[in-house]
Amino acid sequence: MKFFIDTADLDEIRAAKAMGVLDGVTTNPSLMKQAGRKDTDALLKEICEIVQGPVSGEVVALDTEGMIVEGKRLAALNQHIVVKIPTTLDGLRACRTLSDQGIPVNMTLVFSPSQALLCAKAGAAYVSPFVGRLDDISGDGMQLVEDIMEIYSNYDYPTEVIVASIRHPEHVVQSGLLGADIATIPLKVIQQLVQHPLTDKGLAAFMADWDKLQG
Ligand code: E4P
Repeated sequence: MKFFIDTADLDEIRAAKAMGVLDGVTTNPSLMKQAGRKDTDALLKEICEIVQGPVSGEVVALDTEGMIVEGKRLAALNQHIVVKIPTTLDGLRACRTLSDQGIPVNMTLVFSPSQALLCAKAGAAYVSPFVGRLDDISGDGMQLVEDIMEIYSNYDYPTEVIVASIRHPEHVVQSGLLGADIATIPLKVIQQLVQHPLTDKGLAAFMADWDKLQG
């Protein structure tokens, strides 16, 4: 299972890399805004240099032609760039064109199995179901991931599933149990994954006994 970090913040990316668990990065226009950098192309290049793995940069054009032009520009920034495209009719057309030219595409804002099926058929390298946002409206985000995994497995689609919009460690654990290829995770949740109260309690007891032994 690959771990991506869902951020455009260089400090957060460096922190995840230092943990030794980072395989890639996903960004989006909102995460770019949070990072507070208007030179987004330069920022994406810096992210690629740090990560040396897939880095999703999202197009902001809404029409097919605009997405293709923007996607080609993004892909030319660095060999690790993956072009992130919203799952619309225009997006599917752009996905097919860019994929046919060997440019990897991550289809984003996926909320249904039918959307994910279309993304695979349009040649997407990655598909991103947003589990947290579905849970937020009383849907079942992990059920969506399970359905997509089953459909892709039925037909051996090579499209990799990136579980996105992750809110808590259980989303990551469930993704692993379902065999999802990738989870894209906020730094806070990556850090929560290591925490367990019994680890803290056990370590405190070991240290107390060690101190007693030393007198
Ligand atoms: C995925 O690639 C998106 O950037 C992200 O996971 C969206 O998550 P959110 O619902 O926390 O904004």
